[in-house]
Amino acid sequence: MIRLEVMPDHESASQRVADLIADQVQRNPVSVLGLATGGTPERTYAILSERVCSGALSLSQITTFNLDEYVGLSAEHPQSYHAYMRRHLFDVTDVRLEKTHLPDGAAVETGGHSGSRVCEAYERLIDEAGGIDWQLLGLGSNGHIGFNEPGSAGDSVTRIVELAEATIEANSRYFDSPDEVPRQAVTMGIGSIMNAKRIVLIATGAGKVNAVQQAVRGPMTPDLPASFLQRHPDVTFILDEAAASEL
Ligand code: GLP
Repeated sequence: MIRLEVMPDHESASQRVADLIADQVQRNPVSVLGLATGGTPERTYAILSERVCSGALSLSQITTFNLDEYVGLSAEHPQSYHAYMRRHLFDVTDVRLEKTHLPDGAAVETGGHSGSRVCEAYERLIDEAGGIDWQLLGLGSNGHIGFNEPGSAGDSVTRIVELAEATIEANSRYFDSPDEVPRQAVTMGIGSIMNAKRIVLIATGAGKVNAVQQAVRGPMTPDLPASFLQRHPDVTFILDEAAASEL
């Protein structure tokens, strides 16, 4: 059962997610957080960093694991998710960089075994940290979570994936041209995500309305990867009215 919270707009949804993260960290300062990128959680991260800067919150003891990273982009590339996380959270709060983790997309070469080594190493690091206590997710308009595109199995683990055309197009807004968007990514699998103790997904705006409707009300199917969340025991969708309008 997916719990639903519908907020009036993106700002109040972002405030709600920031409150939930702050609450988790205040209850357990050494929490292991699973983090997401994309346009949607940017405001949530901004609210968290305001709270850290004002002294109302400390993130200094958390460990973090991000969902995904593009294959072939170095951590310094401005559109890498490494750079995104530094810009929006790690460099503007007291998060300790050595406690943060993202898949090493730059270490994956085409052909050879480097890809599986990177993926296995990432799964192992999550295990060694004791698993993820609290996982934040965004939602692709095609129903992807992380970079688990339609066709992903419910028990998939961290692996190299081909990006869907729709995702390349959606994410090309951050690059100079669609040709520059990497075609592959390393992503935690749906099975890896489902191992988190608690999951919170944020989706706002009319562009997410179909994906939200199918994830919540549709059948559990690889065609709509977020639908697998229905079988997680503790998952909440934080939506704005636009994204929830077909529920
Ligand atoms: C990206 C990320 C996802 C994110 C999604 C939605 O491709 N890999 O983790 O949730 O697409 O992004 P946005 O929030 O910009 O709509």
